[in-house]
Amino acid sequence: MAALTLRGVRKVFDKTEVLHGIDLDVEDGEFVVFVGPSGCGKSTLLRVISGLERIDGGELLIGADVVNDLSPRERGIAMVFQSYALYPHMSVFKNMAFGLKIDGLTGEQIKERIHAAAEKLQLDKLLDRKPGQLSGGQRQRVAIGRAIVRDPRVFLFDEPLSNLDAALRVQMRIEIARLQKSLETTTVYVTHDQVEAMTLADKIVVLNEGRVEQVGSPMDLYHRPANTFVAGFIGSPAMNLITCNVDSVDGPTSCLSVSDQTISGVPQTKLSVGHSVSLGIRPEHLSVSKGEGISFKGNLEAIERLGDVTFLYLILTDGSRVTVAEQGDRQLEIGESVQVYAELDKLHLFDDKGRALRA
Ligand SMILES: Nc1ncnc2c1ncn2[C@@H]1O[C@H](COP(=O)(O)OP(=O)(O)OP(=O)(O)O)[C@@H](O)[C@H]1O
Ligand SMILES: [Mg+2]
Repeated sequence: MAALTLRGVRKVFDKTEVLHGIDLDVEDGEFVVFVGPSGCGKSTLLRVISGLERIDGGELLIGADVVNDLSPRERGIAMVFQSYALYPHMSVFKNMAFGLKIDGLTGEQIKERIHAAAEKLQLDKLLDRKPGQLSGGQRQRVAIGRAIVRDPRVFLFDEPLSNLDAALRVQMRIEIARLQKSLETTTVYVTHDQVEAMTLADKIVVLNEGRVEQVGSPMDLYHRPANTFVAGFIGSPAMNLITCNVDSVDGPTSCLSVSDQTISGVPQTKLSVGHSVSLGIRPEHLSVSKGEGISFKGNLEAIERLGDVTFLYLILTDGSRVTVAEQGDRQLEIGESVQVYAELDKLHLFDDKGRALRA
């Protein structure tokens, strides 16, 4: 177990810099999740931490040690990949034992560790099987077991569940959470899955084009996104971002215009008349039921009924699109003009550079 510190970490591939000076503190025992669009550098950053890729600038510390020039093995890191990367001709036992022999453990010590890990992962009855005789979920558990038996200082996971079907993913997600809590090993986990990120992470790191956009707890990022990128990335369906003009400011409230409508009573003291802002409202915070707060209307372009929730896709006269997530089933007609409402404390405002404006 150890803390992980990144200071100005840079990575260059063929003269193209893909990580532009990443600063990050991961505390001892913390579960950190990297999210971001495809190609933003999540896997590269993980591989740089693991030692599979060389660092081209900055410093990486595990505990108090600078490990820039150490091999993956010397760093005390174990990594689990999306592809599992098991040896097909070896039994589960041998797959898990493989790294340990190189580490110089005795036969007895190896057996002890493997049986302890196998019990934790419900692999005890499968130790003699070959990977080809296992289900996808069982294979992934072997890959995780192989990482656990190394007793690493840091666990790294790169989209470990993305090859599994939906039901198995939920099951494995819960197992990984439980396992990490019991082992208390510092963990960095890459995923595309919003639910995995929100449920597993102590801390989420949102990456974009090789830079950190925001670091925070899942609820921090959901309730207080620092900019429109994070606002649009965290949460599903994505937060609505409606471009508005500031028409008037009257003390603590302001009046915004969007296409041919006026939205009055928006609480904000830092707005200047004539400026362009983005009004952010999450779909789940908009409702067709009349309520306190702000209100505007749009034309119903499409409707999706999922039983527990109904998604309404509205278009405003200027072409802005707005998604509404209503609880339950809603009987509305395509083409109808729909008035929607949002409470004041659920509104987000961003300046013309996309930075959050806070009252
Ligand atoms: N070995 C390499 N040589 C050259 N460029 C690379 C190499 N590996 C990655 N890149 C580039 O670095 C950038 C970051 O890639 P990376 O694999 O880290 O993205 P990612 O965030 O993990 O994406 P995904 O979500 O699709 O897995 C991309 O532009 C990619 O093309
Ligand atoms: Mg990747």
